[in-house]
Amino acid sequence: MKTKVAIIGGGPSGMLLSQLLHTRGIDSIVLERKTKDYVLGRIRAGVLEQGLVKLMEEAGCADRMHAEGFTHDGALISYGDEMFRLDFSELTGNFVMVYGQTEVTRDLYEAREKTGGAIEFEVNDVAIHDANGAAPHVTYTTQGKKRRIDCDFIAGCDGFHGVSRQAIPLEVRREYEKVYPFGWLGILSETPPVNNELIYANSERGFALCSMRNENLSRYYIQCSLSDSPDDWTDAAFWEELKRRIPKAQADTLVTGPAIEKSIAPLRSFVTEPMRWGRLFLCGDAAHIVPPTGAKGLNTAASDVHYLYNALRDCYENGSEAGIDSYSEKALKRVWKAERFSWWFSSMMHRFPDQSEFDLKMQIADLEFLRSNKAAQQAMAENYVGLPY
Ligand code: APR
Ligand code: PHB
Repeated sequence: MKTKVAIIGGGPSGMLLSQLLHTRGIDSIVLERKTKDYVLGRIRAGVLEQGLVKLMEEAGCADRMHAEGFTHDGALISYGDEMFRLDFSELTGNFVMVYGQTEVTRDLYEAREKTGGAIEFEVNDVAIHDANGAAPHVTYTTQGKKRRIDCDFIAGCDGFHGVSRQAIPLEVRREYEKVYPFGWLGILSETPPVNNELIYANSERGFALCSMRNENLSRYYIQCSLSDSPDDWTDAAFWEELKRRIPKAQADTLVTGPAIEKSIAPLRSFVTEPMRWGRLFLCGDAAHIVPPTGAKGLNTAASDVHYLYNALRDCYENGSEAGIDSYSEKALKRVWKAERFSWWFSSMMHRFPDQSEFDLKMQIADLEFLRSNKAAQQAMAENYVGLPY
């Protein structure tokens, strides 16, 4: 088989890239290890920056997002019994879209299937060949048969545990990592959200987040130990702990219900450089991971896709390789800003096991400064709604 762009990974990065390329008549083949149902069964964050909203519009997949998503022009930050609001629209003139990542991925699958997109599910043994040579190609097995795709370019959109990053030689790759000493226990419940905007809570018992998917589907998280497993937490225990971490007014009005999904996610900051090796380009989680605190995972994958899509367009439409030559440097500039914001927000909002009394004083001083200083609020809001591409 032959295609212009072989895309490894059918998550949001791979599907968004495939759909955008399609709008310019640039063909691609997506290779996905899992089934479509498995991919669409993943529950992930649900705050979209304006950049991603615009990309979904450019990809022709934004109708349901605009119909069912919620625009949020603010969020609340609580610490102890204090709580203050960040007014995104007043501070930046911008807002975020609350719409589940699962729904973003579903909309992209629907669009690709409508336009006859080539997606192969349940593929195995994907391997990248000659990425830095004259004949880049990808091999894989499907239904026990070995296949080969010859291509002009390979997009490694296969997430943190994929094969693409490993295709860049160790002597070329530089990796940066920070693992946090706690996780997030998250639940989904068919209950009305406790508040119409998100609440990020720093309590003496640890971090908590009150989020939502729609007016009758809520998403809550509490910081938990890395040694915890979801089975260690009954629904009642989760609700009890959440109530102890959020302000009393919200704890008293919290509507609880059975968890329809319960999982624990570890927190990690990770970046690999470069994000390009010959004709191989890494996108999204294949190249970088952020702690979920600032909801930057999907949004940083989106900016990678934006840069790569425009670079490939420039190559095919204008014969210019300037975009692909500058892709890694340009994408990494924005990746590191997202890493910094996610690390800073996580450090301010979580309780660390080895935290000294002084560290705690610094956290509270950070929160007090953010609460009282417009410039600090503006900096936070600019990062939260999304820095420019
Ligand atoms: N071959 C084919 N597909 C693979 C392989 C492989 N060897 N390894 C992984 N995959 C698939 C996974 O099954 C997954 O569907 O690649 C896809 C990668 O998707 P994500 O992990 O969602 O990564 P990405 O598309 O970059 O999206 C980033 O999604 O996971 C969240 O927190 C992340 O919000 C961020 C966003
Ligand atoms: C979510 O709704 O899952 C969510 C929202 C905001 C975050 C992280 C997760 O910062």
